[in-house]
Amino acid sequence: MRFTYHGAPSPALEDITLDCRPGTVTALVGRSGSGKSTLSSLVPRFHDPDAGSISLDGHDLRDYKLASLRQQMAWVGQSVVLFDGTVAHNIAYGELNGASESAIIDAARAANALPFIERLSQGLHTPIGKDGEMLSGGERQRIAIARAILKNAPILILDEATPALDTRIEKLIQEALIRLMQNRTTLVIAHRLSTIQHADHIALVDRGRIVEQGTHEDLLAAQGQYAMLYRMQFA
Ligand SMILES: Nc1ncnc2c1ncn2[C@@H]1O[C@H](COP(=O)(O)OP(=O)(O)OP(=O)(O)O)[C@@H](O)[C@H]1O
Ligand SMILES: [Mg+2]
Repeated sequence: MRFTYHGAPSPALEDITLDCRPGTVTALVGRSGSGKSTLSSLVPRFHDPDAGSISLDGHDLRDYKLASLRQQMAWVGQSVVLFDGTVAHNIAYGELNGASESAIIDAARAANALPFIERLSQGLHTPIGKDGEMLSGGERQRIAIARAILKNAPILILDEATPALDTRIEKLIQEALIRLMQNRTTLVIAHRLSTIQHADHIALVDRGRIVEQGTHEDLLAAQGQYAMLYRMQFA
């Protein structure tokens, strides 16, 4: 598969072959600008490949209706988009806005968001201000995770934010992410060691190509770029 941004002189992705098995976690790792977010953006068809194809359950993504394709996926991006409304409305937005309060509470709990929500003046019904200006980065991420848990889609695309410095909050987010990934097919752009450790398959992206792929153990044993990146970031 190959993909070129409109007007770009060269492809952002080239020679990509990747198989994400149902029910497993596939992690993309690699330097900034290597093409990880671009690759993940092709799954909900924010862009289409210009050569080759991507299939889901054996059918080309282009054979599905866009709405039904996206209904099957939850997408948690690097930055969280919130709107001027209550916490509950921000968790259950769009197609989820008919969700029951108890379902929203369950999702907030699984996302480790309930403790901070309960401290807000009106709990779930607290307005969060324009673009959620009342909330911290870690709180915003947990709202996004709660959203994805509530959506309960079989496919999860997760573009992890770079871990925050607060290790206690970081641990709450890690736990929530691991819960979110359970029983789904996940494609995750991993910045956290804990996420990489939960991945069944890891692909290292470099300058638009997948240069190494396999399990964490395979890639460490190969002593290539992954092993080097792993030692630099996490050891
Ligand atoms: N909308 C766009 N139009 C043109 N080029 C883009 C666009 N988005 C990204 N690119 C380019 O595509 C390449 C890959 O970017 P991408 O965002 O996929 O990298 P990344 O691996 O996700 O990086 P990071 O780890 O910093 O998030 C970069 O060279 C980037 O400048
Ligand atoms: Mg990115």
